[in-house]
Amino acid sequence: MIFVTGGAGFIGANFVLDWLKGSDEPVLNVDKLTYAGNLGTLKSLKDDARHVFARADICDRAAIDALLDRHKPRAILHFAAESHVDRSIHGPADFVQTNVVGTFTLLEAARTHWSKLPEDEKQAFRFLHVSTDEVYGSLSATDPQFSETTPYAPNSPYSATKAGSDHLVRAYHHTYGLPVLTTNCSNNYGPYQFPEKLIPLMIANALGGKPLPIYGDGQNVRDWLYVGDHCAAIRQVLARGVPGETYNVGGWNERKNLEVVHTLCDLLDQAKPKSSGSYRNQVTYVKDRPGHDRRYAIDARKLERELSWKPAETFETGLAKTVQWYLDNQAWADEVASGDYRKWVGTNYAQRA
Ligand code: NAD
Ligand code: DAU
Repeated sequence: MIFVTGGAGFIGANFVLDWLKGSDEPVLNVDKLTYAGNLGTLKSLKDDARHVFARADICDRAAIDALLDRHKPRAILHFAAESHVDRSIHGPADFVQTNVVGTFTLLEAARTHWSKLPEDEKQAFRFLHVSTDEVYGSLSATDPQFSETTPYAPNSPYSATKAGSDHLVRAYHHTYGLPVLTTNCSNNYGPYQFPEKLIPLMIANALGGKPLPIYGDGQNVRDWLYVGDHCAAIRQVLARGVPGETYNVGGWNERKNLEVVHTLCDLLDQAKPKSSGSYRNQVTYVKDRPGHDRRYAIDARKLERELSWKPAETFETGLAKTVQWYLDNQAWADEVASGDYRKWVGTNYAQRA
């Protein structure tokens, strides 16, 4: 079986659902269920014996050791993290704990498990670390996209802790020979994304008649990838990636934030028109994110060339699907936007007025 961490979060859950659509190999899903973890996303797997869920913290070495001993996975896919930049600005400690200490704990447990495997299983074992393009820092409008050799220059507590985890993963290969793979992906969007992130937040606020808060001038650029394409890239890297290598994952879809929000408004204007005019009228400029990275862009040619991966969705097709998904699944969105989430909205947006 494969051992997935963070499989109740946005990308991890999409990965588990996609994996079990295409394979009968069971998944052990290990998640602490923080505010971002939601078992409701996995309810279609409730009676599916191929999905085994264990609530555990990746920082808990004894719990991780016990799960590895019991289930003897052939691979660990590490998605679990604190993932939201704004939260890392308000409270970096959880990010250091989960992203750095948690990844270290998992690597130590993986090394122990791996070192006890018979030689053929040892050769085949993989530790796949899911990381981000934010470790490379910020680009100017004319800089080339991030490649696998771009120097690390993280700017937020989130990206600094992800960079730290990437370095630990690299060191476990270099020093101990652990067969690791690292993926650095651009901004994901799609079904089941927690509504603290730009796209689901804007959809929820638009439908709720609330302001659409644009940080700063709205000209920051992100490179968007549909989550299903990220999951496909991870499957490909797991199957064919070379241990010790890193792979950038991105959709060649650079967009300014304001453009993204306008496109969302236009899609909603078509799908759910309001009598009072366009959703664009809800756009509001608010105080910028401190240290806000200006531009991210991914050069994904290594993955395309070496592992024959290509995104299936364009930004237009992926965004249209996503808007439709949120319209069809408002119960999911309402359920996750619980009391704790409302508290976060107060903390993050009150001070930006
Ligand atoms: P998410 O915040 O939606 O989900 C994170 C999951 O990890 C949650 O289910 C949470 O309960 C779990 N978790 C957190 N701390 C844990 C701990 N200590 N022990 C066990 N489980 C814990 O995140 P996401 O957006 O799905 O991101 C998944 C991974 O992909 C992260 O490593 C992130 O850095 C990376 N990534 C995200 C994006 C993106 O655009 N969202 C892009 C590139 C890379
Ligand atoms: O690049 C990959 C990263 O993408 C991942 O590693 C992170 O886990 C993920 O959260 C995401 O980080 P960003 O900071 O780019 O995503 P976010 O959705 O928070 O913001 C996207 C852009 O939109 C960013 O420039 C900030 C802006 N923004 C965001 C919010 C929540 C707004 O203008 N208003 C908002 O209310």
